[in-house]
Amino acid sequence: MKKRLGIISLFILLFIAFIVIWNFSYKKGLEEAYIPIAEEVPVSTIPSEKGVFARSEFALEYLNMPIDEEHQRSLATYYDNRAYPGAPPSIPHELLKGERGIGGKACLQCHQNGGFVEKFNAYAPVTPHPELINCRQCHVAQNTQTLFTDTNFAEIHPPKVGVNSALPGSPPMMPHDIQMRENCLSCHAGPAAPKEIRVTHPERINCRQCHVPDIRELVDTEIFTRTNTHQNE
Ligand code: HEC
Ligand code: HEC
Ligand code: HEC
Ligand code: HEC
Repeated sequence: MKKRLGIISLFILLFIAFIVIWNFSYKKGLEEAYIPIAEEVPVSTIPSEKGVFARSEFALEYLNMPIDEEHQRSLATYYDNRAYPGAPPSIPHELLKGERGIGGKACLQCHQNGGFVEKFNAYAPVTPHPELINCRQCHVAQNTQTLFTDTNFAEIHPPKVGVNSALPGSPPMMPHDIQMRENCLSCHAGPAAPKEIRVTHPERINCRQCHVPDIRELVDTEIFTRTNTHQNE
């Protein structure tokens, strides 16, 4: 009798062990196979290229944003507001009441992330440098719509766009410096970006992986010859 009880309880124990182990492996199987690497290993960036990623959290939103044809900026209006390409643009709108300060939050409420401003009937351009909080140190308000007097300053022409690719379809070189232009998406994506330079692929994130600065030196390719037709006479 004892022997039989022993065998039965041994089988019961084996059966329970089987159920426990089977249950455990079944539950394990239900867990997702995906391991979120990004959460555990911090993604490191090259310090000088950090700015490229500054707005990458919005990249997918930019991709899915419809284009508002009625309120697009063009490069012509973009340059219009700058003394020369790369100069700080003047503030083309009235300053809000009591806005006597240096800028900071008063300006960043619209210029940190942009968005449509009913009052000015335009999208606020996103600032590439929200960390330089003394905005009005460099950006001055427009007090007059016209020049007091004509000047004969030579115009500095901006680099051309659409002609910077080595081959048709290859990534164009950046025709501009990277200093103060590290934060690519601030100017190249979203509804306030001038339509000629609005990027079709904001979701590619690491812009400088494919786009290199144009560092070609200007070299003379022509040999100067005097066009003096009287020389041999
Ligand atoms: C209520 C939102 C709002 C506030 C506050 C605001 N702006 Fe603007 N800003 C705009 C909009 C919208 C435009 C685009 C105007 C246009 O295109 O006609 C603009 C345009 C500009 C531009 C021209 C950008 C370019 O690319 O030509 C500058 C510079 C600027 N603002 C600076 C400032 C500064 C400095 C402050 C703080 C003193 C400020 N703004 C506060 C909404 C705002
Ligand atoms: C040290 C000077 C300086 C300070 C301070 C500064 N900016 Fe600028 N800002 C510039 C220059 C220079 C440009 C032109 C950049 C270029 O074209 O490469 C510019 C461009 C801009 C633009 C236009 C971006 C575009 O689409 O080209 C906006 C908007 C702007 N700044 C907003 C601000 C705001 C808001 C602040 C304060 C939080 C601020 N800036 C502080 C110098 C400055
Ligand atoms: C302050 C605004 C601003 C920032 C920031 C900026 N750009 Fe630009 N980008 C421009 C403008 C304006 C042009 C048009 C040519 C010019 O005026 O320099 C341009 C032109 C280009 C072009 C040439 C497009 C063509 O069709 O030929 C490329 C490529 C480009 N930028 C890539 C970048 C990358 C990559 C970054 C980030 C490292 C960047 N840009 C940051 C304003 C900006
Ligand atoms: C995987 C490579 C790659 C990456 C990463 C990349 N680009 Fe491009 N980019 C290209 C190619 C290729 C073209 C040319 C597209 C064509 O001619 O159809 C281009 C074209 C452009 C243009 C010209 C206008 C257009 O959209 O065709 C701009 C501006 C630009 N890229 C900016 C950017 C910015 C800003 C980023 C970062 C968010 C970026 N690119 C990331 C490959 C890349």
